[in-house]
Amino acid sequence: MFDRLPAPRQDPILKVMQMFREDPRDTKVDLGVGVYKDDTGNTPVMRAVKRAERKLVESQTTKTYTALVGDPAFHRGMTDLLLAGTVLAERIAAAAATGGTGAVRLGMELIRAANPDARVFISTPTWPSHNTLAEKAGLTVAPYRYYDAETGGIDRKGMWEDLDAARPGDVVLLHGCCHNPTGADLTPDDWRGMASFLTERGVLPFIDTAYQGFGAGLAEDAAGLRHIAATQPRMILAASGAKNFGLYRERAGITLVICPEDERATVSGTLGALNRASISFPPDHGARIISTILSDPALRADWEAELTDMRDRVNGLRRALADALRDACGSDRFGFLTEQKGMFSVLGGTEQQIARLRDEFGVYVVGGGRLNMAGLTLASVPRVAKAIARVL
Ligand code: LMR
Repeated sequence: MFDRLPAPRQDPILKVMQMFREDPRDTKVDLGVGVYKDDTGNTPVMRAVKRAERKLVESQTTKTYTALVGDPAFHRGMTDLLLAGTVLAERIAAAAATGGTGAVRLGMELIRAANPDARVFISTPTWPSHNTLAEKAGLTVAPYRYYDAETGGIDRKGMWEDLDAARPGDVVLLHGCCHNPTGADLTPDDWRGMASFLTERGVLPFIDTAYQGFGAGLAEDAAGLRHIAATQPRMILAASGAKNFGLYRERAGITLVICPEDERATVSGTLGALNRASISFPPDHGARIISTILSDPALRADWEAELTDMRDRVNGLRRALADALRDACGSDRFGFLTEQKGMFSVLGGTEQQIARLRDEFGVYVVGGGRLNMAGLTLASVPRVAKAIARVL
């Protein structure tokens, strides 16, 4: 029967990752997959993670199953990190998931269980898996315009025109911060406008936040989603511990669902049943590292300090690239880079141009020209800027 299997569609981000690995040139630069890298090109295990792991090894007495929704200490730690008391605990149902991806999938499955007719409005562009995860959960995707490539900012006119088609019971997927792939984030005014729109239309917000701490700071990057949480009766929040805790392969994610208090038990039970139907019990090691860090003041302070250094490094590289591009192009056409937030920006470019960047200059970016600032070093910036100026 497997001879009838169609060839799987290759993921555009993972394809770049694989091509980079296979390239023997030592001058190659990986600006593809969204992982943080230090100046030596390494993705480090964070100091607080190492210490928390040691603590766990010493103190853990069992590895028996947790609950179907995971460990309550992980729920508490992440809820506080994300929402900081914005919403009463009695209104939040939480479930650990397999990474941020699993958290989005779980949220989509919950929507499907509650309202199979819901359409999920998803920004164009977005992280490609968003569309896949919604569709694989059996939901219909409705794209909404989001990015204005001319200005490098948000296409507000297009966004509101497209969202105008949303009906009560539909869902709008928003990026909490550091929009992937554009780096163009909603402003406080936009978040306020979004809250009014959601209230007026009876539309459910679904916020995916995978880069908290990489934009302007932990609290700053959560301000928008906290505003939505504070103003809406219901909301789904999917969060990842991959990037800000550097726990990529541990798959530590969480789905939080805000709802009226009397709906919470059913929502929580449904999240557990959905986990049971796919993974049974969620992975615990990464989740427990996170709750250990967040509940220990010294570990937490060290984690925040290292995350601040990581953010500063990414922002420094962003500025350095914008400066080098100004010099290399003799114009401000990439000036928008300094306005954007997080690891990513989109430079545009045809498939041929992206291939030329890769083949001729060893510069790997994702299709559409998404580049990961964290893959740069101060040494590689001038070379990358010259290649971009030549090709794009
Ligand atoms: C990315 O956008 O590069 C990351 O979120 C990694 C992934 O899984 O695609």
